[in-house]
Amino acid sequence: GLSGAGKTTLALELERQLFLKGYQAYVLDGDNIRHGLSADLSFSPDDRAENIRRVSEVAALFADAGFIVITAFISPYRADRDRARAIRPQMFHEVYIKADLEECEKRDPKGLYKLARAGQIPEFTGISAPYEAPERPELVVPTADRTVAECIDDIMGHLQEHGYLRAFRAADRLLRDQAHDR
Ligand code: ADX
Repeated sequence: GLSGAGKTTLALELERQLFLKGYQAYVLDGDNIRHGLSADLSFSPDDRAENIRRVSEVAALFADAGFIVITAFISPYRADRDRARAIRPQMFHEVYIKADLEECEKRDPKGLYKLARAGQIPEFTGISAPYEAPERPELVVPTADRTVAECIDDIMGHLQEHGYLRAFRAADRLLRDQAHDR
């Protein structure tokens, strides 16, 4: 989704809720990765591709280690997202955090749209650089006029539907049975 659509807010809240349920969840986020691993990259198309490639490889390693990895990136090019998917096709879920440009610009939480409109940030997604919206994402989460809790319910429902929360239900039952035996 676009800058300001709600990716980071939802990613961190999802991470928190999964953690409370006993899962190892970890957020890789556009803002923090770009201060470290991708600190050498700009927002040119080639550098965005490289950013997403690095993030995808790191996410795949975390997933191999048993984490639910939440990657909160604009990732504006379809080809980059498709390459990420190809690394672990069985476990990649593309989630479109959907708010249109007008809404994101109205929110402008970091004041970046204002700067981009003033020509002070080159190649800003949605203003002076393209955003290729997902065509067939596994999940669409609209965020305009909805609470964080409602959006998180969508994602939890999706995880449940796809069997990612089964381990928790089994562990939950085990704990209940143990408590009962005692
Ligand atoms: S991506 O295109 O390579 O996926 P990424 O998600 O890592 O982008 O970083 C996006 C974040 O960087 C935005 O939320 C915003 O805070 C900041 N940013 C700085 N410059 C730009 C720009 N030109 N375009 C988009 N985001 C930018």
